[in-house]
Amino acid sequence: MLTTTDEKEALVLKEAHRLYGLLCHVSKTKSEKWSLQDCIAAAPYTLAINRFKREQNAVVLAHSYTTPDLVYGVADFSGDSFQLAQQAKQSSASVIVFAGVWFMAETAKILNPSKKVLIPAGKAGCSLADSMTGEDVKKLRSQHPGVSALCYINSSAEVKAACDVCVTSGNVFDIAQKMPGKELIFVPDLLMAKNIEDELSRRGTPKKIISSGGSCCVHDKYRPEHVEMLRRQHPGIKVVAHPECDSDVCALCDYVGSTGGMMKYVSSSTDTCFGMLTEFGLVNRLEAQYPDKEFVWPFGVCSYMKKNSLINTLQALVEPRPDQVVEVTQSVADAAQKSIHKMFELTK
Ligand code: 13P
Ligand code: SF4
Repeated sequence: MLTTTDEKEALVLKEAHRLYGLLCHVSKTKSEKWSLQDCIAAAPYTLAINRFKREQNAVVLAHSYTTPDLVYGVADFSGDSFQLAQQAKQSSASVIVFAGVWFMAETAKILNPSKKVLIPAGKAGCSLADSMTGEDVKKLRSQHPGVSALCYINSSAEVKAACDVCVTSGNVFDIAQKMPGKELIFVPDLLMAKNIEDELSRRGTPKKIISSGGSCCVHDKYRPEHVEMLRRQHPGIKVVAHPECDSDVCALCDYVGSTGGMMKYVSSSTDTCFGMLTEFGLVNRLEAQYPDKEFVWPFGVCSYMKKNSLINTLQALVEPRPDQVVEVTQSVADAAQKSIHKMFELTK
């Protein structure tokens, strides 16, 4: 008969094997895969988190850029920012643990205000969301009266509250096309703004895009030379990129789309080698899902997303610090909710 300690060890080992079954093809670093030893180290945490989740009626929503131990060990759902916003909106759990960055957790709270929303990473920023304030948007809009304003979901609640419609990388082109007028304000991604202009011209519905803000500090690092290098080193490769990349890079790629869009592109393709101009976490998800395909990733890690870990997820569930509890001022939340709901309406 097993002693209590033996039982615990057997449970940990069983959980480690479950994780290893999912992660054995997944890169931990550029040169290393997840090992059984890594999974043995993660298992006590995933077991404890899953137990606390059951006890507290909590769900874990994890962005695909968080680490595979979170995505495969404890997440009830992982996906891109649009899919996660949908999940948060419809969640019936008492607690939503959002492994992502602050603007994503804030969006979850805005969409489902009666829930307790926790973010393990605390006030994890985003170079886009942090590039502009609500006051900046108001000033920009006053310079262009009558022009509709779209905001990328990678923005603060105040910025969303000051705009007409929120968009994500998955629906930005379609929503921009549906908006009335020949001009549009789009904040806070200057590179995506140029991609919108290019895509609307390609579709035969050109619009002038007025923008302000910054860029994603991960995706703005890719250059046309990286696409050329991938093609030279891997003949026949399909190169995919996120629309936060420079338009000169996007113009050279086989597919440009959201995190979810890139996953769909790979799943529906018969090609076997893909160049990934995006964050490492998405590469990890694809490696786990398509072990027979090859994913070549030059570089690109979001340090904000990687602030989420098993340790701070457990700690947030047990005893959240004030900076891990998401609150949004009522008046801002109400106005921001309108622009997010408008997005859902226009995405139907
Ligand atoms: P997705 O909408 O594709 O999840 O993008 C979010 C993001 O932060 C990309 O850098
Ligand atoms: Fe923000 Fe870029 Fe990180 Fe996405 S990858 S959260 S846009 S800094």
